[in-house]
Amino acid sequence: MNSEFKKIAVIGSGTMGSGIALVLARAGIDVNIVDVEQKFLDLGVQSIENFLNSRIRKGKMNDQEVNILKKKIHPFLKLEDATRDIQLVIEAITEDEKSKKQLFEELEIHCDDQVIFATNTSAIKISELATATKRPDKFVGMHFFNPPALMNLVEVIRGDKTSDITIESIISLCKFLEKTPVLSKEAPGFIVNRLLWVFLNESYKLLENGIAERDHIDKAIKLGLNHPMGPFELSDYIGLDVVLEIGEYIKNQLGEQYEPASLLRKMVNDGKLGKKSGSGFYNY
Ligand code: 3HC
Repeated sequence: MNSEFKKIAVIGSGTMGSGIALVLARAGIDVNIVDVEQKFLDLGVQSIENFLNSRIRKGKMNDQEVNILKKKIHPFLKLEDATRDIQLVIEAITEDEKSKKQLFEELEIHCDDQVIFATNTSAIKISELATATKRPDKFVGMHFFNPPALMNLVEVIRGDKTSDITIESIISLCKFLEKTPVLSKEAPGFIVNRLLWVFLNESYKLLENGIAERDHIDKAIKLGLNHPMGPFELSDYIGLDVVLEIGEYIKNQLGEQYEPASLLRKMVNDGKLGKKSGSGFYNY
């Protein structure tokens, strides 16, 4: 099986960007990974290299395989360099509508007309982001899940003007990457995060109303629903700030019944963001 995408630019080298870059490189696609500062770029590339080195230590890959894969990943600081000869951009920067639109305006200047723009946004309307470009027919949502290397799903989201050809190309790419695509229209949170938000937010309310303790809720969900993580473990893993951003967005778009639990707001205000900050619902 061949992919029509030989070289892809991934914008943003955080957890999602570097994870997506790894998935693409593993499938043999050249990846131009971009970030705004050298230190962020270094962190992203380092996280990929750490993972690959652990593959060698565990005997799951050999030196030669790792070297081939590393050569597929090309770090860049400038968009004009990173967008040369690419067929697709996957945007994975911070979940902020204004920053994403600014980025797409700039990408529009540098990219050839044929390049497809995909956003890994977890909730924001695709057609709204597409207004920053002149190619709404080639603009699509491509939502990966954390950690991208292990999670099989990609939500493919159609904006108002996304063409059938664009959707077909992205679905083929997902299959080429050995991921399972599902289609969604652009309602806030799409499929997974719309449901995930309600589920996580209710778990915070159970805890703050003293209905059950943290460990009991996590245990109940893991054993009662066969989830790999309970809601508090998962929230810490995703990052409470990210969860709150998703919840706020869904509430602003869909109404007060989606209002974030006050416990979540307080924890984010106190800097308790989960694993990445050293404490959240658990300490790390
Ligand atoms: N990248 C690449 N490989 C990884 C990895 C990563 N980040 N983390 C672990 N691995 C590898 C390990 O090296 C290990 O490899 P090996 O078996 O060959 O040695 C293998 O994966 C298994 O590692 P673990 O034993 O640590 O993994 P677990 O079996 O404990 O599973 C998990 C870890 C996949 C994270 C699992 O706990 C899980 O599925 N949790 C739920 C995750 C989830 O729900 N994600 C979605 C969040 S919502 C989202 O992303 C949407 C966004 O918009 C917010």
